[in-house]
Amino acid sequence: MKKKTEFVYFISVFIAMLIAINSCQKQSRSDNNKTSAMEVKLDVKKEAFWKNPEGKNVDLYTLTNSQGLKTKIMTYGATVVSLEVPDRNGKFADVALGYDTLEEYVKGNAYFGATIGRYANRIAKGRFTLNGVEYKLATNDGENHLHGGNKGFDKVIWEGEPFKREGAVGVKFTYLSKDGEEGYPGNLACTVIYTLTDSNELKISYEAVTDKPTSINFTNHTYFNLAGHGNGDILNHELMINADKFTPVDEELIPTGEIQSVKNTPMDFTHPMTIGSRIGEVKGGYDHNYVINSGGDLLALTARVYEPTSGRIMEVYTTVPGVQLYSGNFLNGASGKQGKIYYKHYGFTLETQHFPDSPNRPNFPSTILNPGEKYIHLDIYKFGSSPNKL
Ligand code: BGC
Repeated sequence: MKKKTEFVYFISVFIAMLIAINSCQKQSRSDNNKTSAMEVKLDVKKEAFWKNPEGKNVDLYTLTNSQGLKTKIMTYGATVVSLEVPDRNGKFADVALGYDTLEEYVKGNAYFGATIGRYANRIAKGRFTLNGVEYKLATNDGENHLHGGNKGFDKVIWEGEPFKREGAVGVKFTYLSKDGEEGYPGNLACTVIYTLTDSNELKISYEAVTDKPTSINFTNHTYFNLAGHGNGDILNHELMINADKFTPVDEELIPTGEIQSVKNTPMDFTHPMTIGSRIGEVKGGYDHNYVINSGGDLLALTARVYEPTSGRIMEVYTTVPGVQLYSGNFLNGASGKQGKIYYKHYGFTLETQHFPDSPNRPNFPSTILNPGEKYIHLDIYKFGSSPNKL
C-alpha cells in the first residue's frame, strides 16, 4: 500500500515537473518576443564605483543579456551586488541581498554576494597538516577558520576585464594571493569568470594554480530571495537538493566526519519541500553541507528552487561534490539595499563547495592543489519562471 502511494506520488511529481518545464519554455519564448520588441542588448558596462578605505578604486560592471536580465558585479570581493530576474509576468526584481555602500561591505561579515576563498566554509581550529607541515590559519569564527579568514577573497580588490562573445557577456576577475596570506602556503593565482548568457544563466567559473602544495575551496556567497530582496522570508521557497546524504556537524558547525543519509530526517530535500516545512526540527536552522549525488567533476543539477508568489525558479548546477544550504540564520535585522531590512531567514544561500574541514578529514574528497595542477570549478545559476504552481 505504502509502495503504491509512493509510486503515485512519484508519478505526479514527474508529471508536474514536465508541465513546469514545458510552461517554462513557453514563458521563455514569450519573454523572448517581448524583449526583442524592447530591443534589450547584450551589454557589459564598467563604471567607477567606490574607493576602498585605502583609497583604491573599486569598479562596478553591469552585465545585461538580451532578455533583460541584469547583474552588477564589483571588483571588491568579485561580489555580485545585484541580480535582476523576471517573475512569471515578466516583472523584474533584484533577487540578491546586498548593501548600498562599500563601507557596509567592508564592515559586514555576512559575505553578501562575495567570492569566497581560499577556503570556503570552516577549517577546525584553523589548522591543517600537509606533507608533514602544520599550517596555522587566521581564526575568525571562535577558534575556527571561516571563509578564508580575516581578510578572505571577499575583502580584496580583484582586477576586472570585461568580455563579450556570441550570446554572452562577462567579466574575468584575477587576483594573486601571496604565499602566507591568512596562513595558507603557496602563491595562488586565482581567476573567477562571471558569464551572463542569453539563456538566462549566470555562470561562475573558478581556476587557480599554485607554486606550493596548498588547500583550496572556492564558492560564491550570494543570498537569494526569489520574491525580491527584503521582500519577506524565504521559508515558503520550495527546494529540491539532489543529495541523498549530508555531513552532520557539531555545535561549532564543524563536520563530525560522518556521511549520513537524509532519509526520514528534516534534511531530506530529495523531493521538493518548502525550506520552512521542517526547519523548526533543525537546531539553529539549515547550515549544512550536502553530498551531491553526482559526486562532483561532471556538471550536474544540484538544486532547484521555486518561489510560489512570483513563480521564479532557480536551478543550480555544479562540478564540485558539495553544496551548503544556509537559511540566513544569522541575519538579524540589519539594513540592506534601498532601505530594506534583512531579518532572520530573509535570504538563503546554496554554496557549491568541497566539504567543510576537508583538509582535516581524509575520508572527504581531497582539496589539495599541487604545483603543476589546475583547480577548476564551474557553477551555473539558471533562472526561469513557472506560470503555475509546481
Ligand atoms: C556559513 C554560516 C555563516 C555564514 C556567514 C555561511 O556560509 O555556513 O555558518 O554564518 O556563511 O554569512
